[in-house]
Amino acid sequence: MDPTWHAGYRGRKPRAPRVRLFAVDPGKSPMRVSRDELRFDFAGARFRLPRDRALLAWIVDQFLYGEVTGIQVGHWLYGAPSLEAATFFARQASEELAHVRVFLRIHALLGTTPGPPHPVVRFLSTGAMGTDYAEHVATEMAVGEGLVLAVFQALIDTVDSPEIVRLLEGAARQEERHVAFGETETVRLLAERPGLADDLLGANLLTLLALPRLARFIQRRLGTEHEVLRHTEPFLAHVVQLTELRLQRLGVLRAALRDLGWGRRARLLAGAFFRHQLNRFRRPRRLTDTYLSDPLLRRQPSEAAE
Ligand SMILES: [Fe+2]
Ligand SMILES: [Fe+2]
Repeated sequence: MDPTWHAGYRGRKPRAPRVRLFAVDPGKSPMRVSRDELRFDFAGARFRLPRDRALLAWIVDQFLYGEVTGIQVGHWLYGAPSLEAATFFARQASEELAHVRVFLRIHALLGTTPGPPHPVVRFLSTGAMGTDYAEHVATEMAVGEGLVLAVFQALIDTVDSPEIVRLLEGAARQEERHVAFGETETVRLLAERPGLADDLLGANLLTLLALPRLARFIQRRLGTEHEVLRHTEPFLAHVVQLTELRLQRLGVLRAALRDLGWGRRARLLAGAFFRHQLNRFRRPRRLTDTYLSDPLLRRQPSEAAE
């Protein structure tokens, strides 16, 4: 009998050893762009209830669609490069499902019912879906969820309802972990394959170019009179800047975005499109192909039982 176990035994059944799946939880490392940097100064402008009930319901519908597409992370459970990454995605999928409930709860608090998303939001959420793991972690998680997080923070700072803000705060803290995981995985992949930087820059360029257009769509749909919405254009310019900063800190973008000439932009976009199409014909590596060489299985028995 293990003497150390016996010394601590006080008539209870011994617990099974806890299996530590993460050597370091990549989702717990801080984001490359901090929460403070995410914030935008709306100069005290607020969404006020009941005045802005219909407006907030429309915004909630856009988030609701985004959260439903977030469940697609389940796809990467099988295509993850390691059992650790698959473990993260399993937890993320359940968190995204919980976020769907958060937005349904906000609808209930507003006294409104769910409606369809705007086509641009549909395109940004579904059309930008990664075709390989690098695109998934860099484009969908680090950049895409980073954009969503900036809008979460904007709502937290402007919605005049403590109950709605509390719900959003809870979901935002989980989104921070998703972004941090995407960033950490992107940095790891770039260290292994520095040439990946241009592919990932091309894949994210379309989003950066689409964002100013989204500002115009929103203003056409919702107007510019509202005290918060009058900040839409500078707010989205701030979001583009944040994304640029994130791409620079990840090592994907090595210069300022404005210094990328139109010729280079076109080449990056064409390269990303070509790679995107090519990936559709490649058979991805699955966990069933790789699990026997997974770091988790190669650990010493004493490490695995920690
Ligand atoms: Fe989410
Ligand atoms: Fe998320």
